[in-house]
Amino acid sequence: MSAIFSKQFDTKLRLAAAAVVLVLGAAGAVLGYLLLPQQVDTGYVPVQPVAYSHKLHAGNLGLDCTYCHYTVDKSRFAAVPATETCMNCHVRVKEKSPQLQKVRDSYATGQPIPWVKVHRLPDYVYFNHQAHVTAGVSCVSCHGRVDQMKEVMQVQPLSMAWCLDCHRNPAPNVRPVEYVTKLDWKPEGDPAELGARLIKTKGIKPPENCSGCHR
Ligand code: HEC
Ligand code: HEC
Ligand code: HEC
Ligand code: HEC
Ligand code: HEC
Repeated sequence: MSAIFSKQFDTKLRLAAAAVVLVLGAAGAVLGYLLLPQQVDTGYVPVQPVAYSHKLHAGNLGLDCTYCHYTVDKSRFAAVPATETCMNCHVRVKEKSPQLQKVRDSYATGQPIPWVKVHRLPDYVYFNHQAHVTAGVSCVSCHGRVDQMKEVMQVQPLSMAWCLDCHRNPAPNVRPVEYVTKLDWKPEGDPAELGARLIKTKGIKPPENCSGCHR
């Protein structure tokens, strides 16, 4: 993939460099800010094939995020669960519900449920869940209070400026790893102070150079 990408990215780098020079010469920082990619799809809520609710399962029932998204601390991708995970319970719970018909069909045929992706970065951006989650960045920093959502909504822009804002000052968003999936967790004192201490002891340093996120 990197071979296809580097050509495309080379062009993009030159475009970006040209834009920066022009902007600095002409209209200054304001225009530069406007030229940065931003605000992609905030508020996006696709219609899903099954009315699965995080509010019910992760909120009321208290299932941990990693019960279903079990690769999130082990791989680049968080991964949506296989139908078998749902059927751990739904062979017994609400086993006749019409709302679960598509889940039972999927289980019987082996055809996965066609979940619609909510968050999506362009192919030329490298992102890795494991790196963030094991550094102590909670799901809530990037996905909001999913445990209160009946339908998952994109709440952050996923723009370059957004990534960089945190990479330049991660302290307020770094917590002890055991709380990354506790979306309502609050430290005793100032979160930034605790974050700063963790960053120091663990040597956390998010990349700000282009090749960190564009490989
Ligand atoms: C019982 C299984 C289950 C649990 C527990 C669960 N999820 Fe999910 N999650 C799903 C399924 C199924 C989808 C795909 C359908 C959808 O988007 O609602 C999904 C989708 C998502 C998405 C959107 C992915 C995309 O397409 O971009 C996010 C973000 C997410 N979950 C975060 C969380 C967080 C955070 C928690 C813990 C608070 C959690 N999930 C707990 C099953 C689960
Ligand atoms: C740990 C057990 C458990 C798992 C795993 C689980 N569910 Fe559920 N689910 C429940 C319970 C409990 C209810 C609520 C039943 C009630 O309202 O009495 C429920 C309700 C539902 C409903 C509403 C059904 C209705 O008729 O009201 C849907 C739809 C649903 N789940 C989909 C899913 C999907 C899709 C997955 C897999 C991604 C999943 N569930 C995984 C326990 C589970
Ligand atoms: C630093 C920000 C960040 C954190 C922290 C984070 N995510 Fe994500 N998540 C993203 C982005 C960005 C995407 C879109 C990735 C893509 O399109 O390549 C995404 C996508 C997803 C998806 C869709 C499947 C996938 O891997 O593309 C799920 C499910 C998900 N996240 C769940 C979680 C859960 C659960 C947690 C906490 C344990 C979490 N995320 C923590 C930013 C984050
Ligand atoms: C809320 C804070 C936060 C946000 C938002 C965030 N990051 Fe990070 N990122 C971190 C932290 C903390 C690390 C861990 C650095 C370490 O361990 O040294 C990190 C590490 C990384 C790494 C290095 C990991 C590796 O595998 O080399 C990449 C690449 C990265 N982030 C990309 C992104 C991208 C792309 C986005 C936006 C879509 C993003 N990040 C958004 C906090 C954040
Ligand atoms: C922390 C991660 C991160 C770093 C570091 C980063 N970028 Fe990006 N970049 C992104 C993300 C995420 C996007 C996609 C944003 C979007 O879709 O709006 C992006 C998009 C771009 C684009 C495409 C804009 C477009 O509209 O097609 C260019 C060009 C770009 N970056 C250049 C750079 C350059 C040059 C650097 C170094 C000065 C850099 N990036 C550093 C995350 C990063």
